[in-house]
Amino acid sequence: MANCDSCPSKGNCSDDKKETCMIENNPLNNVKHIIGVMSGKGGVGKSTVSTLLAYELLRNGYKVGLMDADITGPSIPRLVNMQNKRITSTSEKGMIPLTAVGGLKVMSTNFLVDNEDAPVLWRGPIIGNLVKQFWTEVIWGELDYLIVDMPPGTSDVAITAMQVMPFSGIIMVSVPQDMVSMIVSKAVHMAEKMNVPVLGLVENMSYIQCPDCGKKISIFEDNTENFIKDKNLELLCELPMCKDLVNLSSKGIAKVNDDIIEEFTKVINCVIELDKSK
Ligand SMILES: Nc1ncnc2c1ncn2[C@@H]1O[C@H](COP(=O)(O)OP(=O)(O)OP(=O)(O)O)[C@@H](O)[C@H]1O
Ligand SMILES: [Mg+2]
Repeated sequence: MANCDSCPSKGNCSDDKKETCMIENNPLNNVKHIIGVMSGKGGVGKSTVSTLLAYELLRNGYKVGLMDADITGPSIPRLVNMQNKRITSTSEKGMIPLTAVGGLKVMSTNFLVDNEDAPVLWRGPIIGNLVKQFWTEVIWGELDYLIVDMPPGTSDVAITAMQVMPFSGIIMVSVPQDMVSMIVSKAVHMAEKMNVPVLGLVENMSYIQCPDCGKKISIFEDNTENFIKDKNLELLCELPMCKDLVNLSSKGIAKVNDDIIEEFTKVINCVIELDKSK
């Protein structure tokens, strides 16, 4: 049985969860909230949304960490402009995450391999174990929020991540396309089964905006209304497909276009609300 005293949830999770709890906590860490960014589907913008969320929480004065739990397809180092950085020393007490501009603490497999393009050819259990180590053996220290960029899919690694970390909630990311929402539904069901609350949905690549007349053009079929109703999800924001989000790494903690930040406010607020209600 896990030690509930050292857990961010302080034993406030459900009875079901306590009975099967596999959570180990590092006594050097005091992380108030863990927020997963998930989809089930690949390539929909999880890493982009994770990075934006981390930057925006930083700008709001919180202490933030960003864990790249996509072990075989790590994209966070590039998104925070740290693709050339490697972890070269470890302390006896654990791995020390790298610090990006603005004080964002970051951990990724790509900080551990020789070259950015070296493939990680590990089987599921080893990958799952590394995700666990990213939680139990990384010295995150004092954090208000740890944002976890979840791997695509609902199998092995995603299950392990949800079993070994005490998530406060999940932000789901989707794009307005039937086939994608069908797969995102699987991730929603998975979170429910694992007793992790889904805080809401970010619809990414919702539209493109004409630079001349400002008209919003939908490129996918717009089925989100039915999807969120069916799954009882709150639509937190609709992000456009735009250059600002492609070039997130070049923005650092300087904010992206004001319209995008304004659209993202509901996501930030629902996450900040967790801290207020604690
Ligand atoms: N709103 C957007 N506008 C333009 N490009 C975007 C937007 N969101 C994401 N992208 C681009 O789409 C690609 C996929 O985004 P991202 O890596 O964030 O998705 P992902 O869900 O994390 O993918 P994976 O499943 O491979 O981890 C990236 O090249 C990213 O720059
Ligand atoms: Mg990703």
